[in-house]
Amino acid sequence: MNTVRRVSLTQYLIEQQREHGHIPGELRLLIEVVARACKRIAIAVNKGALGDVLGSATTENVQGEVQKKLDVIANEVLVEANEWGGHLAAMASEEMDSIHVVPNRYPQGEHLLLFDPLDGSSNIDVNVSIGTIFSVLRKVGHTRGISEEDFLQPGRQQAAAAYCVYGPQSTLVLTLGNGVALFTLDRETGSWVLTQNGVRIPEDTKEFSINMSNLRHWAPPVRRYIDECLGGEEGPRGKDFNMRWVGSMVSDVHRILTRGGIFMYPWDKRTPDKPGKLRLMYEANPMAFIVEQAGGMATDGTQRILDIVPTKLHQRVGVVLGSANEVRRVTEYHQQLG
Ligand code: AHG
Ligand code: MN
Ligand code: MN
Repeated sequence: MNTVRRVSLTQYLIEQQREHGHIPGELRLLIEVVARACKRIAIAVNKGALGDVLGSATTENVQGEVQKKLDVIANEVLVEANEWGGHLAAMASEEMDSIHVVPNRYPQGEHLLLFDPLDGSSNIDVNVSIGTIFSVLRKVGHTRGISEEDFLQPGRQQAAAAYCVYGPQSTLVLTLGNGVALFTLDRETGSWVLTQNGVRIPEDTKEFSINMSNLRHWAPPVRRYIDECLGGEEGPRGKDFNMRWVGSMVSDVHRILTRGGIFMYPWDKRTPDKPGKLRLMYEANPMAFIVEQAGGMATDGTQRILDIVPTKLHQRVGVVLGSANEVRRVTEYHQQLG
């Protein structure tokens, strides 16, 4: 009989509380609820055409993107799961125009939850890995009532961040500010099992991740960095680089957490007045927190993502994250070339 001790998510959270002593019961409940909701989303994803979850819905979200059926389903699963437990004051999502305050009939908690319910929507119908991204903030101040203002905190104030990848395995990656832990869903028992603790991103890499079709639109520092990578062994970097672009940020970031690399979705001149494509509060911030906790770096090209003070819930940002030495290099190029 296999006697290896399996640590469940519940046990991990309790042990973290004993070790670090600052994980309130409410936060532990929140993580458990989120993990359970991810299980439901994973089941829906796995059913695919059999569950009638593929294809587009008939609606658009606040960013003017046509919603996929799974964007809507995942959003509903998360709202429903998180409303009644008493652990939240309000939620915000890529798929909801404004914040969703916990209804009066339920007790209100002290935490705020933001999510990208389904990341990588363009990959749903083609059976490629997709995911969900979470950011957890604490409600600051003791004012009664809650508004969008309460959410506009810099990412460094996150109490927790997580993402779930629905791929060949379903994997939940979590930080509570004491390193990064990885859980794999055991489909037979329905339990999230700790499969890696203290995840570290190597400082150096030979792999970059960027949508190359936008090359002609990039700013000079990004162009310079990628040109140098493409120069390979004979070029200024003196080594060959490999390229990977899944098109689901969760999957690209997960690869970087697993074996290193650099991921970029920088500002480009297709939409010069937008700072980038990805959203700060529920895509860039949680990923930046996880990446930093794993020893990597995350900037918008010039400044640390976690230091940006948001002004809008759905604000966008340029993203450069991953192996520290590469992110530092790209950031230096921005400083030099402006
Ligand atoms: P979402 O599906 O939540 O809208 O996010 C998609 C994002 C991100 O996951 C990915 O890195 C990027 O869009 C891909 O963009 P391109 O299609 O421009 O490559
Ligand atoms: Mn997304
Ligand atoms: Mn999404």
